[in-house]
Amino acid sequence: MTRVLASAELPEGARRLVVVGGRAVAVVRVQGAVYAVDDVCPHRGGSLAMGDLQGFHLYCPLHAWCFDVRTGDAFFPQGCRVQTFEVVERDGEIYLGA
Ligand code: FES
Repeated sequence: MTRVLASAELPEGARRLVVVGGRAVAVVRVQGAVYAVDDVCPHRGGSLAMGDLQGFHLYCPLHAWCFDVRTGDAFFPQGCRVQTFEVVERDGEIYLGA
């Protein structure tokens, strides 16, 4: 596991871009829980960490492809997905398994 953020750096509804093992990862907080997905949109490489977060839906800022941060599955277009990463939040710190 790799420490990526302090819990205080990720309030409810926030998105943050972190780099773990050379990979860009979008880290978000929804309903108190932390989720992490590949930051690179599979369409044309938009940064998902820069997108809008509406509930569990993370929208790419470039062309609005939409991913569920819990599973990485796309709502639009269906059949597409981004990788998810294991997250542990403990003692005010956030760790990713990447
Ligand atoms: S680059 Fe993400 S929707 Fe086009």
